[in-house]
Amino acid sequence: MATADPTATTPLRERAAWRALEAHHAQLRNLHLRELFAEDPLRGERLAAEGAGLYLDYSKNRITDETLRLLIELARESGLAARTEAMFRGERINVSENRSVLHIALRMPKGTPLVVEGVDVAAQAHAVLERMAAFCERIRSGEWKGHTGKPIRNIINIGIGGSDLGPVMAYEALRHYTRRDLTFRFVSNVDSTDFAEATHDLAAEETLFIVASKTFTTLETMTNAHTARAWSLSALGEEAAIAKHFVALSTNADEVAAFGIDTDNMFGFWEWVGGRYSMGSAIGLSTMLAIGPGAFRDLLAGFHAMDEHFRTAPLERNLPALMGLLAVWYGDFFGAQTAGVMPYSQYLKRFPAYLQQLTMESNGKHVTLDGRRVDYDTGAVYWGEPGTNGQHSFYQLIHQGTKLIPVDLIGFAKNLNPIRDHHDILMSNVFAQAEALAFGKTEEDVRAEGTARAIVAHRVFEGNRPTNVILAQKLTPRTLGALVALYEHSVFTQGTVWSIDSFDQWGVELGKVLAKRIIPELESQDEPELDHDSSTNALIRRYRRLR
Ligand code: F6P
Repeated sequence: MATADPTATTPLRERAAWRALEAHHAQLRNLHLRELFAEDPLRGERLAAEGAGLYLDYSKNRITDETLRLLIELARESGLAARTEAMFRGERINVSENRSVLHIALRMPKGTPLVVEGVDVAAQAHAVLERMAAFCERIRSGEWKGHTGKPIRNIINIGIGGSDLGPVMAYEALRHYTRRDLTFRFVSNVDSTDFAEATHDLAAEETLFIVASKTFTTLETMTNAHTARAWSLSALGEEAAIAKHFVALSTNADEVAAFGIDTDNMFGFWEWVGGRYSMGSAIGLSTMLAIGPGAFRDLLAGFHAMDEHFRTAPLERNLPALMGLLAVWYGDFFGAQTAGVMPYSQYLKRFPAYLQQLTMESNGKHVTLDGRRVDYDTGAVYWGEPGTNGQHSFYQLIHQGTKLIPVDLIGFAKNLNPIRDHHDILMSNVFAQAEALAFGKTEEDVRAEGTARAIVAHRVFEGNRPTNVILAQKLTPRTLGALVALYEHSVFTQGTVWSIDSFDQWGVELGKVLAKRIIPELESQDEPELDHDSSTNALIRRYRRLR
């Protein structure tokens, strides 16, 4: 296990800072953001921090300087600095899988070694990046020909979870920078509709499949990959075509070879890259094909800038640490169950979905590193939609409902497609929402507007709803890298305070095992003998009758 501050072994609720935060929360929980801003005219400028090209305004949080001091003390008592160093050194901090956690090595500058257990993992990562770049140049230039001699025009990434969400999010986020003459599609769902719709208008002779799977055993991905193989073979006729139309991204060379993909056409990564932390590894091949190797390096540089900020900036000015500690503050002290992430950028439409895996697969845990059941809340439910769309559907509940939902609002100073005054309108909504959520509208204000007495209460906004506003100049590959790393390290900060393993995902296993048992019961021609609970048995029988 990683070396850490000895106080970190004290159960969380017995740590001095936790106790002090409980007492502090009891004092502060009814304090309104209106009062906090009235008391300190400089609050909005003071409670802000910058790093790796991102500006974080966290002034509209229900905190005082004392809250911050105690949260930072909690981070210290939880051994955040030591655990961060342990991660960056490559110690096996993923204890339940006995693995290092080294996504930070994927984005280190070329020539900077990181030797872990005798291996320069940063050099390993660069060697793969160089092979990826050479491959991308061959596809993008048209030099790589398909089986019938035509260049590749369509690229389909087949993967799920971390082998899909990062690539699809990055493709959408960076669409502005992509080669428009290449078509990119992403197939993840084992629902055959996903494959059918992704391929129905494409010619197999111009289509490259990227089979992305860390393990190369994931049921959905392998099912889709076999379907893709059959689809290609039925159009191209010969087994030899596979070499021209399939590449694999994986840690598992044996399974790749067993599937029939030449390992020369495989781009590898390592067990120390978690699926949800893998978009900077070979899993980013579709991103590199879309935006080119140079822009992909910029993406990695953005990640690295935030990695360095997280590793070196004092906690008081450390964006991921501050965001992670605020998440703990709301989840554990105010009882907030969910957190909203609203990017005011259409390009970031898949960012909330990406964050759901990052945050919830990482911190949806109920035992500590040493296997004790936690007696506090861990990871929140993350959700979101791009603004302003969400404002016209669910923001009502955030403004006037009974649940406290801390929200991150993400915006950019420049638009990549400036048209008339759209961007100022868009950004006015970022600022307006943060303002409305924080300050609300009092009963006096509503009355003063001459509102009919009977509906005054309906039109009151209590306010005191917390937000973080994250601003960057422009959505670029570099900014996207920094933004993703911001959330990665915020997740890490939360997991460290909670003493949980943010890098395993045992909770996904049981369903997979049970599905494998049920598949033959659905597929068998004869009525199977069922030995599940009565509900599952009845559902299976009904399905067999209805289909
Ligand atoms: O089932 C969850 C999971 O293991 C994720 O953690 C992972 O990102 C995804 O499945 C896909 O796994 P693989 O890349 O091995 O196919």
